Amino acid sequence: MKPAPAPSWDPKTDPDLDALCVIIGLCFYWLIMLGCMPIRLTPNGSDIPMKPLRPITGYQGGKRRYARLIAERLTAFGCGRYYDIGAGSGAVTLALISLGVSPKQITMVDAGPWGWVWETIGKGEFDTMYLEDLLQKAKAMPPQNVKAWVESVILHEAPSPEIFLILQAASFGSAPVWLSRDGWKVGETGWRYCARGYWEPPPGSREKNPRGTIFSPDGMLEAAKRVEEACIGLDGRQCRAETLRIEGGAAVYIDPPYEGTWGYGTRMDWRAVAGTHTPLIVSEGCALQGADEAIELAPRKEGAFKGKSRGRPEEWLSIWNAPVGC
Ligand SMILES: C[S@@+](CC[C@H](N)C(=O)[O-])C[C@H]1O[C@@H](n2cnc3c(N)ncnc32)[C@H](O)[C@@H]1O
Repeated sequence: MKPAPAPSWDPKTDPDLDALCVIIGLCFYWLIMLGCMPIRLTPNGSDIPMKPLRPITGYQGGKRRYARLIAERLTAFGCGRYYDIGAGSGAVTLALISLGVSPKQITMVDAGPWGWVWETIGKGEFDTMYLEDLLQKAKAMPPQNVKAWVESVILHEAPSPEIFLILQAASFGSAPVWLSRDGWKVGETGWRYCARGYWEPPPGSREKNPRGTIFSPDGMLEAAKRVEEACIGLDGRQCRAETLRIEGGAAVYIDPPYEGTWGYGTRMDWRAVAGTHTPLIVSEGCALQGADEAIELAPRKEGAFKGKSRGRPEEWLSIWNAPVGC
């Protein structure tokens, strides 16, 4: 009988070779995909795409919803320096950094306790462990007791940026919290601070989850850690913006308390702050005279009549341009 021929290597049927071809194909596919992906540089120069930063707490008047748009308009001026004036919770600065601007290119100014927070974070002196310890205490107690703890313990601690963040996070309606000579105040009335109560949805309510005095201590801590890490090196200042000297060749964003609002403990004469500086973007409740462009961010609801807007108040961006690449 003729012996069977020795098995020979057949490149068409060899399973190892098939697997190798699939692996090489996949590698090429990912190389091509990576080449096409828009990769945003993070502030420290790594090329890992950055998850957008979000403010540590809510803040009435905060620009979180529009921050990316404002940051894109600011970076489009092509300047090397940015001012975020009336910085509050820092929504616009955080959007700038998320777009790849280095914190070293940013000056943040706020006359209220947020200015203190940014000063401390910029210098790398923010005490995240202290904030974590306070939030752990809040988490460890029955949620119904947090309001009383904030009002009887936190309110009487030595004032600090970390204490302010707890008070702001627990403020009813995210009303602005500010410090006067006789203690912490909240909102327009300047009344003594009081915290939001624990809320449980009544039977039949569309809301299903209860709301704590501090909405999400874990989310707040995560945001604080990310913000602290990303913002070291920025120039944070707690001062009245009217005392500021703005460097030439900078893109400036001013978010003053809107005309007719009093809730922040201080007022701002934004025209005195800006002088003749351009490029400049100013937020207000109406389009400002003399601007090159005005964008309505929160249009008045249909059916609302002049002077009595229903729903959210109007918000506008007024923009004064300058030659690109200032
Ligand atoms: C509408 S809020 C800004 C909100 C902020 N842009 C954000 O995204 O959270 C106005 C801010 O201006 C600050 N402010 C009021 N008067 C000021 C002044 N004279 N100089 C600097 N900041 C001032 C307030 O403390 C407040 O934080």
